[in-house]
Amino acid sequence: MAIDVGESDFLFVLTGAGVSAESGIPTFRGAGGLWEGYRIEEVACPEAWEADPELVWKFYSWRRQKALACRPNPAHVALAEVEKRLGERMVICTQNVDELHEAAGSRRVLHMHGRLFQSRCEKCERPPFPDTNSYETLAAIPRCACGGRIRPHICWFGEVPFHMEEIFAALGRTTVFVSIGTSGVVYPAAAFVQSVRARCGKTVYIGLEAPENLPLFAERYLGKAGELVPRLLAISDL
Ligand code: OAD
Repeated sequence: MAIDVGESDFLFVLTGAGVSAESGIPTFRGAGGLWEGYRIEEVACPEAWEADPELVWKFYSWRRQKALACRPNPAHVALAEVEKRLGERMVICTQNVDELHEAAGSRRVLHMHGRLFQSRCEKCERPPFPDTNSYETLAAIPRCACGGRIRPHICWFGEVPFHMEEIFAALGRTTVFVSIGTSGVVYPAAAFVQSVRARCGKTVYIGLEAPENLPLFAERYLGKAGELVPRLLAISDL
């Protein structure tokens, strides 16, 4: 059992929270998906930031603390091994804001939903900067020199994801599309598979349960990413 990636293929891997679940990072939906009774849509949006920045930072501070203690699992490691072999014929587009793909050794990673360990000004163009701090109170939230508050460098609901130009350029070259551990409900990521299907590319889903967009995938493998990814994308099979 293996996903066939040939000499002239371009591999696009879309990852979601499921790829990091076995590393100990909580997923957003399903069992354990709520944070203190809030759904992700209630804390990851500009409206929540306007109404209650302390609550929003409490949520991301909690996620930072969780993620700081996590290590890559065999799925991240297998993907990094595949990249060593394919080089520029592969890209990982992740919806995850953790650094676990990079920690495993992947270099060609596009973080479309931002990065948990970066912050930026809510107002000015100052670029995002590394930040592992936790901010638990309103008074603790730092201000930029321009007076704006510092916010997490995360794409919230209603905001435009990052790297879309590079993502669409990569999708335009893709012949093998593998989606791992994502529930298929958040757009535009959930629609990427359609653009590959439209160009007759191979489409594969790997994850614990059937995602919303499962019918769009020609090949489906249901199970844990940490077990399936190393088997399906085994380097010797490339
Ligand atoms: P979800 O929490 O919606 O879905 C996680 C998926 O991973 C589910 O389909 C699970 O069945 C699957 N899963 C759980 N454990 C797994 C395992 N060990 N191996 C394989 N699969 C497993 O997470 P996403 O689809 O990533 O965006 O969510 C998409 C976006 O919604 C996130 O990037 C985030 C969230 O709002 C922002 O915050 C902007």
